[in-house]
Amino acid sequence: MLKLSKLAQAVTLMLAGSAALAGEVEVLHYWTSGGEAKSAAELKKIVQSKGHTWKDFAVAGGGGDNAATVLKSRVVAGNAPAAAQVKGPAIQEWAVEGVLANIDETAKAEKWDSLLPKVVADVMKYKGNYVAAPVNVHRVNWMWANAAVLKKAGVAGTPKTWDEFFAAAEKVKKAGLIAVAHGGQNWQDFTTFESVALGVGGAKFYDDALVKLDQKALTSPTMTKVLETFRKIKGYTDAAAPGRDWNLATAMVIQEKAAFQFMGDWAKGEFTAAGKVPGKDYICAAAPGTANAFTFNVDSFVMFKLKDASAQKAQADLAAAIMGSQFQEIFNLNKGSIPVRLNMDMAKFDDCAKLSAKDFVETAKTGGLVPSVAHEMAIKPAVQGAIKDAVSQFWNDEKVSVADGVKNIAKAATTK
Ligand code: BGC
Repeated sequence: MLKLSKLAQAVTLMLAGSAALAGEVEVLHYWTSGGEAKSAAELKKIVQSKGHTWKDFAVAGGGGDNAATVLKSRVVAGNAPAAAQVKGPAIQEWAVEGVLANIDETAKAEKWDSLLPKVVADVMKYKGNYVAAPVNVHRVNWMWANAAVLKKAGVAGTPKTWDEFFAAAEKVKKAGLIAVAHGGQNWQDFTTFESVALGVGGAKFYDDALVKLDQKALTSPTMTKVLETFRKIKGYTDAAAPGRDWNLATAMVIQEKAAFQFMGDWAKGEFTAAGKVPGKDYICAAAPGTANAFTFNVDSFVMFKLKDASAQKAQADLAAAIMGSQFQEIFNLNKGSIPVRLNMDMAKFDDCAKLSAKDFVETAKTGGLVPSVAHEMAIKPAVQGAIKDAVSQFWNDEKVSVADGVKNIAKAATTK
């Protein structure tokens, strides 16, 4: 009896303690598709389980361009959310503004330095202090395929080279189906483009041209071949592609209307949410020519400076939760990505995730691990935006010759 009442007392005290520090976290993100929303809900659950209130600030728009615009206006108005989905070099740009919080206390207590690959940890830090928490590792150079559609079209085996790909696409077209499900938005055009650059030119070319922005690589015959291949893919997309959201393109593959989609593994989140099984209903394969390479895309949340102590506590708990093993597992199972936290048990993950985890480690050793440019991992937002526009202009307007496409992209790469 005595023991029980002591326990009850302790629980009451504990609850009172956490209630006193319970705060609200407003989280800006762009995870609004089926698979993404399920993933975001897991973070909300963990935050709420710590007694805090989750204020959802979802801004629809794949790739996050809309979210970035909304975030700017909120920060300029002096009304930043507690956390926002920002990644890559953009983290540094926000940090320079002096608006980000130093979350070292949480990072130290949770041992982030020993739980993250150094290259990732460095991106999350500004002047040696953590200002952002990483969520996952997405692989961008994937090609998704519907197994039944390939069978119907008489395509045996998943294409491994661009020649094999075009032969397969031709068969799908002849069978009266759409070969490539594409969403004509500039970030999706660029997602396809960078996989073509990687597949046609290899990791070194990709790095020279799109990461180092080397003019020699950007104007080389390889670049010409990249643009020719890229344009050829367009011929296998449907007339309704312009403006289409990426998840609707994935739905075309899921629903057996289209054979292939070039998209990062957030697309797998849609297959998973639809109850589809990899290897049976759908195939995940590296985009043609890119099996030995890996374009990485690490999602992360920057934390903004807050005044209120309870809000700061909620923010610290959010940061700790993001890197916690419980969240890293459940979130990434839903999202299609792999955990960014090292030494995680992958037993519950499917074959696509296991392949991704294996390739992430192997390509890091061989030089095949490169940052995704389309997904803001490599170059500053301004130059990335200019190249993205040049790529989409080439994709959309067939009157732009390959030679002019090469020139325009090389010129865009000089943007300061
Ligand atoms: C993000 C993913 C997101 C995708 C579609 C990518 O840039 O990294 O988390 O699911 O865009 O919005």
